[in-house]
Amino acid sequence: MTLKAVVIGGTGLVGNALARAWRAQGVEVQAATYREHPASGFHQLDMRDEARVRELLERLRPDWVAVPAANPYVDYCELHPEETRRVNVAGTLNVARACRGLGARMIFFSSDYVFDGVKGVYTEEDPPSPINEYGRQKAETEAGVLAADRRNLVVRTSGAYGWQWEPKNFVLQVRARLIQGREMPVAGDIRYNPTYVENLAEIVAALAQAGAAGVYHAVGADEIVRSEFALRAARAFGLDESLIRPVPAAALGSPTPRPKESSLDTAKVRAAVAVAPVGVDEGLRRMLAMEPSWRDYARTLPDPARSCAPGR
Ligand SMILES: NC(=O)c1ccc[n+]([C@@H]2O[C@H](COP(=O)([O-])OP(=O)(O)OC[C@H]3O[C@@H](n4cnc5c(N)ncnc54)[C@H](OP(=O)(O)O)[C@@H]3O)[C@@H](O)[C@H]2O)c1
Repeated sequence: MTLKAVVIGGTGLVGNALARAWRAQGVEVQAATYREHPASGFHQLDMRDEARVRELLERLRPDWVAVPAANPYVDYCELHPEETRRVNVAGTLNVARACRGLGARMIFFSSDYVFDGVKGVYTEEDPPSPINEYGRQKAETEAGVLAADRRNLVVRTSGAYGWQWEPKNFVLQVRARLIQGREMPVAGDIRYNPTYVENLAEIVAALAQAGAAGVYHAVGADEIVRSEFALRAARAFGLDESLIRPVPAAALGSPTPRPKESSLDTAKVRAAVAVAPVGVDEGLRRMLAMEPSWRDYARTLPDPARSCAPGR
């Protein structure tokens, strides 16, 4: 039987890659949504509006609803906790309630920032210990999503990179800055697992196909210091590595306390699906190979004739 899926936040880095991965697997992507940055063929939805969330899902009756929609800006969450909670916590839980009402299963995207970064290599069994507002919002939402339906899936990821319309992710920021010939200070004391978004999407699609439930860590295979990752990205893109300047995270002027070592253990996901997490050199190689075609890929989603009701 063909699985049917909706992606809320389908124009985002993770959501777009997931929608394409699902399509490649033969999953019917009934709708993929944006909130404020329209894209052709995508459906407008603000998940803070519970009635509209319910109306969309009742009409489409998907098997899976993925929610990579969020305000993922860590500093903005720290400075505007109430505003961002309305999206990241309350909005996501609106979707969880609508899914429960319809018997649809939900995929929520969480983060390595649910941990304090003291121990590193966290497993799914380690209790959340967030040290910033974004992490607290993620931990609270994880609990709400799993309480709504134990069959729901929580995927914790970290440092996602790949092509996207707005060059927001770290690798595209490094690329843009170095192309301009400008020096880039980067934290030399933060360790994490950068995650190639197309690989993440394949893993998540495989988890859904396998009917996985509960919490899974889906991150890249390499635990690496942020400044070293910037150097590898510069090298991969043939840009001037000497412009990368390792500095202590505290010198970067962020208002947010950040975990120092938020690496995640991936044994559980590797045992569950055949798609293996890739390391940074492989991820960057695949990203470069995709460059000429990614915009065309991104625009093939979803089928507007099927996903958008008349009048929307
Ligand atoms: N990227 C990472 O490194 C990373 C790491 C760990 C966890 N995560 C988590 O993974 C998820 C996806 O991240 P991402 O990097 O793909 O984010 P992103 O590129 O910023 O995409 C966010 C998506 O959510 C939509 N959206 C925002 N507010 C919404 C609302 N109120 N209602 C419905 N849709 C809304 C956006 O649409 P508009 O643009 O139109 O507003 C966009 O499609 C997030 O939950 C993030 O916290 C990401």
